[in-house]
Amino acid sequence: MIFGKNDHLVGLDIGSSFIKVAEIKATGKGHVLNKFGMSKIAPGTIVEGRIVDVDGLANDIKVLFKSQKIREKNVAISTGGHSVVIKTINTLNKPEKELHETIYTEAEQYIPYDIGDVNIDYQVLGQSEFSPDQVNVLLVAVKKDLVAEYIDLIHQAGLNPRIIDVDTFALQNAYEILPYESREKITLLVDVGASKTSLNILKANVSLMMRDNVSGTNQIIEEIRNQYDISVDDAYLAVNGENSTIAQDKIQAISLKIAQGWCSEICEVVNTYQAGSNDEKVENIVLSGGGVFVEGFQESLLSELEADVSIINPFEALNINEQKFSDSFITKASPIAPIAIGLALRRVDDK
Ligand SMILES: Nc1ncnc2c1ncn2[C@@H]1O[C@H](COP(=O)(O)OP(=O)(O)OP(=O)(O)O)[C@@H](O)[C@H]1O
Ligand SMILES: [Mg+2]
Repeated sequence: MIFGKNDHLVGLDIGSSFIKVAEIKATGKGHVLNKFGMSKIAPGTIVEGRIVDVDGLANDIKVLFKSQKIREKNVAISTGGHSVVIKTINTLNKPEKELHETIYTEAEQYIPYDIGDVNIDYQVLGQSEFSPDQVNVLLVAVKKDLVAEYIDLIHQAGLNPRIIDVDTFALQNAYEILPYESREKITLLVDVGASKTSLNILKANVSLMMRDNVSGTNQIIEEIRNQYDISVDDAYLAVNGENSTIAQDKIQAISLKIAQGWCSEICEVVNTYQAGSNDEKVENIVLSGGGVFVEGFQESLLSELEADVSIINPFEALNINEQKFSDSFITKASPIAPIAIGLALRRVDDK
């Protein structure tokens, strides 16, 4: 065939503080990292998951693609936060077509939005643990206006949005290709970004519980601004140690206090899961997102939970040309790269 099927995609993670882009080639030698780059966006460009400055952001995306010399136009993106609802429901097992109708009819009671305002998707997870006639179904609803906003953004950047995924699923996708030996152990994936945190408890790559909240590294910026009455830009400088009027130990104390708050939220989710799961313990915690750079965060988790804590390295499963990507770059990027990589691993005909 002259025209091979082009199911190739570029993964684009539009975070509220950094956009990340990844292109992966499937070869006979496995997945090869072809392109990876990231760039910071101006504070206020995305607020509570909504795009405030579409023109500015579209331009940032164009500049990033250009600087990384990415020519592919088909992209996979993801959304998360408030406008995305993910629920595991159980319902009577039926033939596929009837099940489809039932889920769409029942969805309304699980979603806090008008059913006409959301796009719904679902995946049957398997038989319910409570009854052999029932199945567990993962239900996902995304607000239509949010999807439209992201589609417009991608078009404005001169690209084609081929897949619109959910951040948590893209992260899980990146995790699933990693060579972890302990798939049967209960694992919690935690992504602490700038403006949101997502939690996903997995066993053998099946999601058992998901939670999203609005914690993130922006809380540190806000707390510094509250205490010192300074601008957002000055607060960022202070976090980077570039504002000499605020002592570094004061910044560290603020950061640690916020990170301890993240720990309490994580412990609450772990405890809720464990209380309802016949004493099955969460044994592994795999961290990602910019929150991992906050000093004391990992240590606090280790002191509060009896689980192994590690930071994800989504590059581990990829072939990497060291001439193209230095070790130091890979180390710095790995905690914030998994969603872009999880998206880049999608194919056009993936559901
Ligand atoms: N090398 C680093 N050292 C210190 N902090 C860092 C580093 N890299 C990122 N961060 C922090 O992490 C944040 C970015 O994290 P991340 O990329 O996970 O957020 P995001 O995806 O943009 O946000 P969200 O997913 O919440 O929309 C930055 O705002 C910064 O505070
Ligand atoms: Mg993010």
